[in-house]
Amino acid sequence: MSDIKNYIEENKQRFLDELFELLRIPSISADSAYAGDVAKAAEFVAESMRKAGADNVEVCPTPGHPIVYGEKIIDASLPTVLVYGHYDVQPAVPLELWDTPPFEPTIKKTAIHPDGAIFARGSADDKGQFYMHIKAFEYMMKNGALPCNIKMMIEGEEEVGSNNLANFCIANKDRLKADVVLISDTSIIANDCPSIDTGLRGLSYVEVEVTGPNRDLHSGVYGGAVANPINILSKMIASMHDENNHITIPGFYDKVAELSAAEREDLNKAPFDLEAYKKDLNISDVWGEKGYTVLERTGIRPTLDVNGIWGGYIGEGAKTVLPSKAYAKISMRLVPNQVSDEITELFKKHFESIAPAGVQVQVKPHHGGEPVVTPTNSKAYLAAAKAMETTFGKTPVPTRGGGSIPIVAMFEKELGLKSVLMGFGLDSDALHSPNEHYGITNYLKGIETIPYFFKYYAEA
Ligand code: BES
Ligand code: MN
Ligand code: MN
Repeated sequence: MSDIKNYIEENKQRFLDELFELLRIPSISADSAYAGDVAKAAEFVAESMRKAGADNVEVCPTPGHPIVYGEKIIDASLPTVLVYGHYDVQPAVPLELWDTPPFEPTIKKTAIHPDGAIFARGSADDKGQFYMHIKAFEYMMKNGALPCNIKMMIEGEEEVGSNNLANFCIANKDRLKADVVLISDTSIIANDCPSIDTGLRGLSYVEVEVTGPNRDLHSGVYGGAVANPINILSKMIASMHDENNHITIPGFYDKVAELSAAEREDLNKAPFDLEAYKKDLNISDVWGEKGYTVLERTGIRPTLDVNGIWGGYIGEGAKTVLPSKAYAKISMRLVPNQVSDEITELFKKHFESIAPAGVQVQVKPHHGGEPVVTPTNSKAYLAAAKAMETTFGKTPVPTRGGGSIPIVAMFEKELGLKSVLMGFGLDSDALHSPNEHYGITNYLKGIETIPYFFKYYAEA
């Protein structure tokens, strides 16, 4: 299989051109104005699966955005790998913070990516990463190097909570029958330090509304005598962390799986440069729950963060107003064995209980998802580790990722399948942020590594 390197060398430009074409489609799942583009991206994915040699390729409609499916069954008695990814992307706003347009992919060199990175929304999350699988599949098909069966399922609603994927999986249990799920939608520690995520956090996401008086008021005439919903909401939010940055919602930590001292020590062995971390973010210090390291705070501890807060007057100049309403979007990242619906309920109860007289509050749950931990002793994990070792020259470090891919827990529950999170991006690639990018080296390294995963997995 040494020819994978040659294959990449010969086809590098085309691999980039094709990815660029996909990146030019603004497949923003959250915004219905882009539904046509999301559909266009689905067709593009289906067509690239077909061209690469997949059978039974189908753009499967759902009540939301479509799921693209394709497969190559070479021998039913051989194992089957189910590749999962998502072709939808986060909104690109605020546009003015992008140095180059989000849907006009541009190659630029950076300190971390001296060979160039592709700047575009979705370049790392997840178009650049799932497209590696289609190119690796193309290589395996053209070179008689596909050693087992492959099924590919690329969805269009990951960034909005994968609302229709669970039903699709339940309705297509036979079609999706496999031995393991392979996903590239996470990060490695650094290009010279490969890693494999062995866990993802769960998520509870709520929107809150605080209502004071029945209408916006003159802040002079009424101010001081009527509860200001923005003041109240700010105070309520602030009260949800104590002086140790511990979350104050009663029962919030009840089910949290505590790691043993040995497990924590292991987790903290992963290379982590606090100074570089602070420098990258231009912060003078990190913040978080007392008693835990940065790796623990993002990997094994739950959190509560405000994602957006609004209300009152935010236009030009000043307007003296005591607003009628204030709003916030709040997310909680969950760890084993917290349960998303239970945490949402605890939040709701607590939020209602701390609301002072004079305001009314409403808590609306958004999407959620359960945390997962993936095994490090499975055939698939070991195959992924060996594949990365082959192409990076270093054994990957197991790490706990802080992000969420809710569908991974669902694959376990509904399909009985464990996942391997073999991602190739970097945390610093600005996922969900302006100027998202993906290293060209990372893209090509992924294409090179994936066929080795299939080889080692099939051999095991
Ligand atoms: N690919 C990310 C998750 C991720 C990124 C995991 C980096 C580990 C490392 C995924 O697309 C994502 O952004 N998920 C959302 C959750 C979803 C329900 C909107 C998240 O984590 O906020
Ligand atoms: Mn993603
Ligand atoms: Mn994402």
